[in-house]
Amino acid sequence: MADPEMIAEYITTKQSLPKSPLETGYMNKFLGDNNLVSIEGHHWKSLRSMFNPGFSAQNVLTLTDTIVDASLKFCDVLRAKAKTNEHFQFEEYATRLTIDIIGRATFDVDMDAQQRIHPIVKHFRERVELMPPGDAVFPWQAIDVFRPLKLWLNNRKLEAEVKKELDEKIVRRAKDIEDELKNGVKQNKKRSIVDLALNAYEKEQSLSPEAGGNVKHILEPSELPRSLRQDIADSVKTFFFAGHDTTTIAWAHYLLHRNTEPRRKLMDELNHFFPPGTSAADTIKADPHIVNQLEYTTAFIKETMRIFPPASTLRSNIPGQPIAQTVMRSPSTGQEYPIFAGIHIWPAAHLVHRNRRFFPRPTHFIPERFLRSQTPFPEAELFTPAGKEAFRPFERGPRNCIGQELAMAGTKIILALTAREFDFVLEYPGEQVDPQHPIPNSTAEEFGEMTAYGGMLHEGRVQRYRVEGHRCWPFLKGTAKPTGGLPGRVYLRKDEVL
Ligand code: HEM
Repeated sequence: MADPEMIAEYITTKQSLPKSPLETGYMNKFLGDNNLVSIEGHHWKSLRSMFNPGFSAQNVLTLTDTIVDASLKFCDVLRAKAKTNEHFQFEEYATRLTIDIIGRATFDVDMDAQQRIHPIVKHFRERVELMPPGDAVFPWQAIDVFRPLKLWLNNRKLEAEVKKELDEKIVRRAKDIEDELKNGVKQNKKRSIVDLALNAYEKEQSLSPEAGGNVKHILEPSELPRSLRQDIADSVKTFFFAGHDTTTIAWAHYLLHRNTEPRRKLMDELNHFFPPGTSAADTIKADPHIVNQLEYTTAFIKETMRIFPPASTLRSNIPGQPIAQTVMRSPSTGQEYPIFAGIHIWPAAHLVHRNRRFFPRPTHFIPERFLRSQTPFPEAELFTPAGKEAFRPFERGPRNCIGQELAMAGTKIILALTAREFDFVLEYPGEQVDPQHPIPNSTAEEFGEMTAYGGMLHEGRVQRYRVEGHRCWPFLKGTAKPTGGLPGRVYLRKDEVL
C-alpha cells in the first residue's frame, strides 16, 4: 500500500492489524519466538512497557557520552583508512559502530566491535547468511536440508553469548544495588536498557499482595524467572538485529558526497554550532541538548531515510482473529478494498516516500522539504495531518520503532562528528560509469527511450545497473541493504570545511 492515510486508518494506527506470519515466521526463526517485533497481545504490551523507559528520549540523552566516544573511535578508523587510501566497505564499519552503541545502551558494556569481531556479532552474521534468502522468488531457491540444523547450532552459540552478557550485567547491577544499600547513597549512574527493564519488573512485583510494596531486588542471575530471562534474551537479540541492520549513517555519507548544495548547508550548520577550532565532541558532551537544535542535520537524515528507508512492516488479517474494519475506503477516490482473512498487506515506506502529493520531485535529495520555513514545495501536503503519516521510516502507531530516539540521536551525533572531516566516495571494484551516457536521476527517464541511456538500455547495449540513479539501490536482506554494499574510499576533506 502506498496511501499513507489509508495505512494509518486501517493498517497501523487507528486500526493496528497483527504482524503478518510471513514477517513473524522470518523474525521468529531469526530471533526466537519472544522477540518484540513479532509477539502480540498481552505479552507484547507487557514487554514493550518494560523496555519503553530505556528507549525514552530522556534516557537516550544520558547515552550521549557513550555515542560520542563510539563515534570518536569511528573517526580514528576512518582517519586510518584515509591515510592508507584503503578500499573498504563503509557499511561494515558503520555497522560495527552501531553495535558498540547498542552494546553500551543495552548492557552498558564495551563490545569493542570496531576493533574486533565480538562473538555476538560473529554469530549474528552467520545467522544472516544461514537464513533463507529474502529475495527467493521460487520456494525451491530457499531449500537447504541442513538449514534447520545449522540454524539450531548457531542459535545455541548466540543464546549462550547473549545470556552470558545478561548474567554478567545482573551481577554488576547487584553489586551496585548492594553498594547503594550499604552506603545509603543512591549512585547517580546511567541506566542501561536492561537495568531499566529489571527495575520495571521489580517494581511490578512489589505491587503484588504478597510483596506489599516491598521491592525485592534480583541479586543473582538464578533469581530471574526462566520465562523472563528468555524474554529479555530474545529482546536483546532484537535490539542488536534491529539496530545494527539499519545503518542510515552509511547512506547519509554516500548522499553527502553526491549532493553539493545540501552538503554546503550541512557544513554551515555544523560550523555555526561547533565553530572551527572547538571540539564538537566536547561541546556535545557538555550540552547534549544542542543535538536537538541541529535542524538542517535532522532534515538531512530524514531525507536520507525517505530515499532509503531501511525497514517497513507487513500486516495480516489472520483468520480466526476478528478485526473491527474489514473494508478500506480510499479518502481521495472513495474506492473500497476488502481486507479479507488471510490477506498480507505491506505498507511500503519506499513507495509512500515517493508520493508526489507529499514529496514533489521524489527521487531528488532535497532536505529542505522537511523544514517548513525553507521548503521549496510550500504547496506539498507534508505539513498537513495527512502529511504526518507520509514519512514513516520508523513506522507509526503502537507498533512503531521503539529505538527511533536512539537511532536519530546516534545518527545526528555521528554525522556532526564525521561530516566535516571525511568525504566518502563510492567506488565499485572494476566498474566504470560511461560519461557519454549519464544515468538519469528518475526511474521514468531511465526507462524512457528518449534519453540516451534509456535508448541504449532498450536496445540492450547497456546493462541496467542503476535505480533512480543509484548504483547502490536497496534490496531485501533482512532489511533493505545496498546492492553490493557501499564500497569505496574515504578522503580527508580539504574544501568547504574548516
Ligand atoms: C535507522 C534506524 C532504524 C529504523 C529505520 C527502524 C525501523 C523500524 C521499523 C520500520 C519498525 C517496524 C517493524 C515492523 O512492524 O515489523 C521497527 C520496529 C522496531 N525497532 Fe526499529 N528501526 C531502527 C533502529 C532501531 C534501534 C536502534 C532499535 C533498538 C536498539 C530498534 C528496535 C526496534 C524494535 C524492538 C521494534 C519492534 C517494536 C514493537 O513492535 O513494539 N530499532 N523499527
